[in-house]
Amino acid sequence: MINKLKMPVFVTQPALPPLEDFTELLREVWQNKILTNNGPFHQRFEKELAGYLGVKHISLFSNGTMALMTALQALKITGEVITTPFSFVATTHSLWWNNIKPVFADIDPVTLNLDPWKVEAAITPQTTAIMPVHVYGNPCNLDELKKIADTYGLKIIYDAAHAFGVKVNGDSVLNFGDLSILSFHATKVFNTIEGGAIICHDEKTKKRIDYLKNFGFVDETTVIEPGINAKMNEVQAAFGLLQLKYIDENIIKRKAVANLYRKHLSNIKGIRFLNDIEHVTHTYSYFPILIDEKEYGKTRDELYEELKRNNIFGRRYFYPLISQFPSYRGLSSATPKNLPVAEQVAKKVICLPIYPELSVDVIERIIKILRK
Ligand SMILES: Cc1ncc(COP(=O)(O)O)c(C=O)c1O
Repeated sequence: MINKLKMPVFVTQPALPPLEDFTELLREVWQNKILTNNGPFHQRFEKELAGYLGVKHISLFSNGTMALMTALQALKITGEVITTPFSFVATTHSLWWNNIKPVFADIDPVTLNLDPWKVEAAITPQTTAIMPVHVYGNPCNLDELKKIADTYGLKIIYDAAHAFGVKVNGDSVLNFGDLSILSFHATKVFNTIEGGAIICHDEKTKKRIDYLKNFGFVDETTVIEPGINAKMNEVQAAFGLLQLKYIDENIIKRKAVANLYRKHLSNIKGIRFLNDIEHVTHTYSYFPILIDEKEYGKTRDELYEELKRNNIFGRRYFYPLISQFPSYRGLSSATPKNLPVAEQVAKKVICLPIYPELSVDVIERIIKILRK
């Protein structure tokens, strides 16, 4: 019998910088008396973040959802957009809020990302863009998606909310597609409490995005179109600037957690986990495992409940599929017959706790429960 943990262990715990250092920065904000609207911390953070990520242009946002919604506006996307049902609801909600019809395509059973061949099959004369997600930070099939987009004249907006710092052959995954968005929500690898960003490739597009996130203002008297208020404030930006100092250390700790799980899980029958991919620099945002009920002898939900009884709160990301929620399930592309792989994966997946301060002791307890 394993003793129940005294403190609950959640799927994640936010990484926080030293409070004293943050207080110092807050003092500066108080002295500046600038709280938002592209203030000094916002400008510094944008520059340093672009340098850290290895991208040309970045626009900071109040959160990732507003970044997604603004990205669609920036490219004037309309009609239908092909996307994955295996993601967080914000991916598809951003389409709905823009009056765009989501068209779901199935995922690849190995990467769990949009299957490019299913994307191609879902194209209609109304399709204007593809919105793939780098699920769990694993890069999509970038080359195939680009080929399809180029052939059919479509835009690609990557939802890279899970892919902070991820690189492919040394190049940021954020440099692919027309635009990429990030989330800096408290649960993410890198957080600014709430926050997000759009990554683009040229100055002109960045300008347009910056106008859109500030009501459409170009200057005091010029409003180019109905923009929104999606600006990151100075406190968030100062927090982010400080977080950048610790991000590498935090990723190293996350990698150690992932490797310890992998070492122990490799000899448990019926549990599949995702391995690192060659030429990819991973940042270990999630640790999903897939339960094969027959081989493992227990269903995913039985395991989920068992962990809960032990005060360990895994999350069934992503279950239910987005396509199963009331707003979307009436769409013809949402039918389970169209999404057999995603339907299967959503029944099998559970994300185990992963965060920099997760102790070896707790990981070993989790493994013991998984072995039982
Ligand atoms: C894949 C994905 N897209 C979008 C979002 C939305 O980001 P935010 O919470 O910063 O609005 C999240 C997570 O929160 C996410 O996981």
